[in-house]
Parts: sequence; structure tokens; C-alpha cells
Amino acid sequence: MNILLTGGAGFIGSHTIIELDKKGHSVVVVDNLVNSNPEALRRVGELIGKEIPFIKADVRDRAAMDKVFDENKIDAVIHFAGLKAVGESCAKPLEYYENNMNATFVLLDVMRNHGCKNIIFSSSATVYGDPAIIPITEDCPKGHCTNPYGQTKSMLEEVLMDVQKADPEWNVVLLRYFNPIGAHKSGRIGENPNGIPNNLMPYITQTAVGMRKELGVFGNDYDTPDGTGVRDYIHVVDLASAHVAALQAISRKEGLAIYNIGTGHGYSVLDVVKAFEKANGVAVPYVIKPRRPGDIATCYCNPAKAKAELGWEAQYGIEDMCRDSWNWQKNNPKGYEE
Ligand code: NAD
Ligand code: WQD
Repeated sequence: MNILLTGGAGFIGSHTIIELDKKGHSVVVVDNLVNSNPEALRRVGELIGKEIPFIKADVRDRAAMDKVFDENKIDAVIHFAGLKAVGESCAKPLEYYENNMNATFVLLDVMRNHGCKNIIFSSSATVYGDPAIIPITEDCPKGHCTNPYGQTKSMLEEVLMDVQKADPEWNVVLLRYFNPIGAHKSGRIGENPNGIPNNLMPYITQTAVGMRKELGVFGNDYDTPDGTGVRDYIHVVDLASAHVAALQAISRKEGLAIYNIGTGHGYSVLDVVKAFEKANGVAVPYVIKPRRPGDIATCYCNPAKAKAELGWEAQYGIEDMCRDSWNWQKNNPKGYEE
């Protein structure tokens, strides 16, 4: 298939290009580079031995998107484009709602006008709020999102479901990602956060490389085995291959399909610190800090549905994730800026 990746220059998109290419799919990338660097696409091109067709454009720019669809025969879209920083979304709610909602509205309308009605959407475990069931299955009711970023994901899921309900020619796959970490094994592409990282793994790698003095562990009084927050970390390469597997739901014309994309294992913050130290032989100094507002104790999934229906399951464990995150960080201490 010929796949349009919106936001394809970002962390998950760049890894997904490689997995799509392995299975013989071709890609077109649209990204406005608001949170990414074209160097990522250049390096992906190097890794797969071909140049990545790239259009620098904002998905909210209807004329630009019309042109992309006029000039390329697109079979399906993987819609990664969006702003994703939870804390920033609380400070700039209007910017987050405007970008994430309008980009998707324009995209869906342009797709419909060009007769392309197949979309895979980057959703998030955040839509479950404080989950009613652990491990989380897809039947678990959606919960209250504590931040505007999460609200955009939850609202866009509803929009996509309504669009599909109104016109059953649409095939909509909602992938609810758990916590992606790791990097391509080459160490050439990886996560490249701006400024001080919000997420655990980039904070750990920046501490290990000496850019940060110590990791702050946000709370050790949760109702979890060691008191620190438990999450379902998934290797970004496994997450990337889940998108390739999800194309099956589109080929089978399933209408609406929703999948949890995680490993099904929960690791605490201290488990991850220990796994990182063990895998890489480097120390990660940490201090216990107060809980971070909006955090929940435990979040991990039951990924059985994706295995049963798509034949997809995670291949990599926490040691692989820690090793590959470190390999990326130590080889690229300034991200793509060298
Ligand atoms: P990322 O920021 O690395 O990639 C998103 C890309 O979208 C960036 O390259 C950015 O420049 C681009 N973009 C943003 N707004 C755009 C617009 N209006 N027009 C064109 N391009 C635009 O993030 P990522 O980690 O690769 O995440 C990809 C998707 O997965 C996002 O939708 C994110 O919300 C979702 N997601 C991420 C995580 C995570 O922890 N990384 C978890 C769950 C869901
Ligand atoms: C993981 C654990 C923290 C940083 C977020 C979004 C979610 C999704 C993935 C996009 C928690 C603890 C963290 C630190 C710490 N993104 N922690 N010290 O919060 O599970 O999920 O990213 O959709 O929507 O909310 O991920 O990596 O920030 O935190 O102790 O410096 O690590 O408290 O227990 P989170 P995270």
C-alpha cells in the first residue's frame, strides 16, 4: 500500500517508516517539523537505502493537503501529527485543542474528498483515565482525562467513530499506545525531546549521560509493589510494527477497530531505573520527589486482542528497551543537532 504518514518525522513515525518499508509498503510523509527534525528522515532514508518522500506542510493547511492527495495515490493514512506534551497542554490548552482537533478535521475532510477512507489514529492509554480495570482491555470504559492533550485524544476517538458510523465505507483503527520508549537498534534515530524531558526514559538517559544531576522519582507512596508508578513500557520498534499489523484491519474492511498496544507487563519507576543500570552498566542517581499532579498509580494493558486479531505482539523486553534508549542517547547526546 501507499501510506501517508502525518507527523512522520517524529519519534514514532520515523520508526514506523522502517517497519512499513520492510513489508513492502511505500510512504509519503507530511510534517510541519514543529516537534521534529528533517535529519530524522534523512537518517531513515540512509537506513532503508531510499529517500523518503517528504512534504513540509501543516496538516491544518487544506490547500497543501489537497495537493498531497492530488499528486499521490494514497491508500491509507497513519495520523501521528499532533502536539503531545501533557504539561504544556495545561499551559496552552487553546493551542493544543486548535492544533490536534483542526488538523484531524482538515485531514478527514480532504481524505473523504479524495475517496481515501482508511485511517489509523495514534490514540493513547490516557483515554482510560484512572483505569477501571487492570490489566486494561479495550472494553474498559474510557475515563476522565486530566489534561487537554488527553482530552484531544479522547475527543478525536469520538469524532473518528462518528465519521465511521455515518459512512461505513470508512475503516478506522484506533491504536491506544501505552508508554513508548527505546530506539532503533542502529542508534541513528530515537526520541529527541525539546528542553527538559517530561517522560521517564529520556530523563533517565539524560541523567545517565550527565546532562541532568539526578532523576526525580515522582512519589513512592502509591499503592504499587514498591510505591512508585507502574506503567506498560513498549519498545518503539514493536509499536511501529503494530501499525503495519493494523493495516490488516483496513484490508479486511473491518469498519471500526480498537487495539491496546502495549506489552501487558507493568514496571515501576524503580524497576525501570534498575533495569537500565543493569542493561547498560551505568548509574542513574535519583531522589524521591512529591507525586506529579495528574499521575495515576498503575496503568498496563491486556494486549490479547491485538494478538488474536492482528497476529501482533511485542517482541522486546524491558532490557532491550533500556539498551536501545541508551545506545541512541550516548551516540547522539544532542539529538539530531550534530
Ligand atoms: P512527535 O512529537 O515526535 O511526533 C509528532 C509529529 O507531528 C512531530 O514531528 C510534529 O512536528 C508533527 N506535527 C504536530 N502538529 C502538526 C501539524 N499540525 N501538522 C503537521 N505536523 C504536525 O510525537 P510521537 O511521540 O512520535 O507521537 C506520535 C503520535 O502518537 C502523537 O499523536 C502522539 O500524541 C501519539 N502518542 C504518543 C505517545 C508517546 O508517549 N510518545 C503515547 C501515546 C500517543
Ligand atoms: C512514567 C512514570 C511518572 C518522569 C505520558 C502521558 C501519556 C502518554 C505517555 C502520550 C510515571 C514517573 C516520570 C520523571 C518520574 N503520552 N516519572 N520522574 O505519565 O505514564 O504517560 O506519556 O499520549 O498520555 O501522560 O509517562 O514517562 O511521563 O511517566 O518519576 O522525571 O514515571 O510519575 O509514574 P506517563 P511518563
